[in-house]
Amino acid sequence: MAQVDLPLPQLSPLGQTARRDRWWLPSLLVFLGFSAFIVYSTWAAFQAEHFWLAEGGAHYLSPFYSPLIFDPVGVSTGHAWFGQPPGWLLSLWPPFLVFSPALLILWAPGGFRFTCYYYRGAYYKAFWADPISCTVGEPGFRGKNYRGERKLPLILQNVHRYFLYLAIAFIFILAYDAIISYTWTNPDGTKSFGIGVGTIVLTLNPVFLGLYTFGCHSLRHLIGGRRNALSGSPSRKKAYDCVSCLNSRHMLWAWISLFWVGFTDFYVRMCSMGVIADWRLF
Ligand code: FES
Repeated sequence: MAQVDLPLPQLSPLGQTARRDRWWLPSLLVFLGFSAFIVYSTWAAFQAEHFWLAEGGAHYLSPFYSPLIFDPVGVSTGHAWFGQPPGWLLSLWPPFLVFSPALLILWAPGGFRFTCYYYRGAYYKAFWADPISCTVGEPGFRGKNYRGERKLPLILQNVHRYFLYLAIAFIFILAYDAIISYTWTNPDGTKSFGIGVGTIVLTLNPVFLGLYTFGCHSLRHLIGGRRNALSGSPSRKKAYDCVSCLNSRHMLWAWISLFWVGFTDFYVRMCSMGVIADWRLF
């Protein structure tokens, strides 16, 4: 199909508009919400401790540290995949950075969020003000050759479809952590089934992440693509409808899952630090 580029006149100066609604409010909330999460998650990732709770018989792992590839403080009672970090890795680690297992894995879910189609639209407005909002004056960063996501560097956002596979793997890993949290160690060393508040917190985490991830635009394309008529494959049509259903609330699940993953780390961390006590319900 022939393609024609139409010039899109930019309003200026910044903020000029005839709109009377509070067009700036969603972007302000996105800015505050995202900033708070980035500050907290960065702080938590660099702590390199209090990511595991084994006291009182519970076994809770913070999602910021899962999968736990190495355990530098040796507190995870065998939960780390490869035990203590090897000497060669520590010798390669930049001396100005604390060795934190979170830094080994957070690039994957972080990259998935950062390149999410919903978040892109949200943080382009909230952080770069470009575009700031429909029919509102812009700062005018863009030059004449601006091609958005069709050129470097923003074309790299297309890597989202590959981060999707990693994000799905993380859901299963976090679901495994949730299952572990149902097994409690008794004072005599035997194991038994149990449920604490942390168990519920850890269980909801992969559920919310799943509702966000399985509504991904890339997954929708993956399931529904390459067919002229989806109705020709009833099972595929059903899967496509399920993804579409979640996709229609993608923004909602994006924020709920973001909040909950941060809260899950916070809960495990506060219990591990002794600030709050986990409550065993069953
Ligand atoms: S588009 Fe948002 S997770 Fe893929």
